[in-house]
Amino acid sequence: MPRPLIAGNWKMNGLKGAVAEFGRMMEGYDRKMRARVDLLICPPATLLATLPVVALGSRIAIGAQDCHAKASGAHTGDISAEMIADTGATFVIVGHSERRADHGETDAVVRAKAEAARRAGLIAIVCVGETEAERRAGVALDVVRAQLAGSIPDGATGADLVVAYEPVWAIGTGLIPTMADIAEMHATMRAELLARFGAEGAGIRLLYGGSVKPDNAGEILAVLDVDGALVGGASLQAEAFLDIARTYS
Ligand code: 13P
Repeated sequence: MPRPLIAGNWKMNGLKGAVAEFGRMMEGYDRKMRARVDLLICPPATLLATLPVVALGSRIAIGAQDCHAKASGAHTGDISAEMIADTGATFVIVGHSERRADHGETDAVVRAKAEAARRAGLIAIVCVGETEAERRAGVALDVVRAQLAGSIPDGATGADLVVAYEPVWAIGTGLIPTMADIAEMHATMRAELLARFGAEGAGIRLLYGGSVKPDNAGEILAVLDVDGALVGGASLQAEAFLDIARTYS
């Protein structure tokens, strides 16, 4: 079983003052927790130069929320995987549904970004998940299978890839799927990874994301093949984020 990962995606939240909140996370990530679960915070790009330095020695990993597929060049406003690695960050989220929706990112674009992450030595967190209409139409499993096939680079291993299943309708809504639906989706994703990558597919962590809170983390993280969570809103407060991670201790 892969080591669990609780990842926080701060999205477009966090000014300089948020560094103090991160400090409280570092204080709370004690030896007992460190023995059982990995923690990751993905701040906005403006804090990417700061948090990896603050985090030194704390064992909380830092990641970015997106990267460009190219290493450098004339791409105003974009940040490359190499630049992210240069800050000391070690992860990058790619293909979050908000980027797929707001920036028209296709599976092919997401795959190119995941390949860029590997080129730069970063671990890519590839996000997939169905919309509410797709869930209602009964095609959620097909949608996610296709997203996995199109978004994940060849030759992926647990050392360079994490997959996050985030149903679009569960993000920021307080709604979550039934535990049976999460179990079915995660079993399907695991089967896809095993079929494509053989034994390596067993080591790729599968996170659930979408309205994960301290009061529902226990049941969600107990589901088979859920190897952690990708947390939005509840990752902005140290206590809530640590409470979710404490599920493992
Ligand atoms: P919420 O936890 O706020 O629903 O956000 C989930 C998410 O999109 C994490 O990437």
